[in-house]
Amino acid sequence: MEIMNGKMVSQSICEKLKEKTNSLIASGKRVPQLAAVLVGSNGASETYVASKIKHCEEIGFKSNMVRLDETISEQELMTTIESLNKNAEVDGILVQLPLPKHINEQNIINLIDPEKDVDGFSPVNTGRLVLGMQSYIPATPYGIMLMLEHYNIETSGKKAVVIGRSNIVGRPMSILLSQAGPFGDATVTLCHSKTKNLSSICQEADIIVAALGKPGFLTADMVKPGAVIIDVGITRVPDASKKSGFSIKGDVDFDNVSVKSSFITPVPGGVGLMTIAGLLMNTYNAYLKRNKLP
Ligand code: GUN
Repeated sequence: MEIMNGKMVSQSICEKLKEKTNSLIASGKRVPQLAAVLVGSNGASETYVASKIKHCEEIGFKSNMVRLDETISEQELMTTIESLNKNAEVDGILVQLPLPKHINEQNIINLIDPEKDVDGFSPVNTGRLVLGMQSYIPATPYGIMLMLEHYNIETSGKKAVVIGRSNIVGRPMSILLSQAGPFGDATVTLCHSKTKNLSSICQEADIIVAALGKPGFLTADMVKPGAVIIDVGITRVPDASKKSGFSIKGDVDFDNVSVKSSFITPVPGGVGLMTIAGLLMNTYNAYLKRNKLP
């Protein structure tokens, strides 16, 4: 069994991006800029956005954190997005989800300029992804693909099971694993809350991506010996022994599943950090494209 080290892989991607950013600075060019929009004060969202901003700064990107009150109207948020769309210095825009209930998330996502949509959530980028065209791939599935590439995981002809059909992870992940080409060509089953016989479907899988947000859901009896396990879960569970009062748990019963697997991602230290690497790669590529650089 090998633990897939998201910290190490994402660090190596960040190092390369830092070198490229340093070359831009040395040649007198503007550096890439990411704008992150955070509405309200959801604890998990605060942590994710803070980490995205910190990594941006570490590699030399400019960041622009737009904090908005929980009570902002949908119209006001739209006006903010429009102004970021128009801002020539902003290469990438991300609106941290979830948004407060009174705001229609899709209306907001639809408004983000597809060329700046570094989360890859807009209808244009989703359509491009489905059609196999060049697109911004949502950061978590992109990060997982980078991880599969780093560990040279064979996916061609393999049976892959994705648990969870969210627009952010499960659905795009199923598309990427099934598309023709390197780290694709898998036979993919996309499972969700209405799936019957999930256990027996998982038992047949060579690769399992667990992205349903239920701590410890995937147990050893559901896993074939030698399977590759990707754990996307990052749920906060109360933990009195921690200063924060919580610990982060994945969707996989790591202790018991890891001994049966060939490769497995830990939580924390797995997919979470790869999501940041995916986002930064998208932002850098958006910068190149907007500036017509090779
Ligand atoms: N909420 C959970 N994951 C994500 C993500 O990857 N991007 C954004 N914008 N919001 C999220």
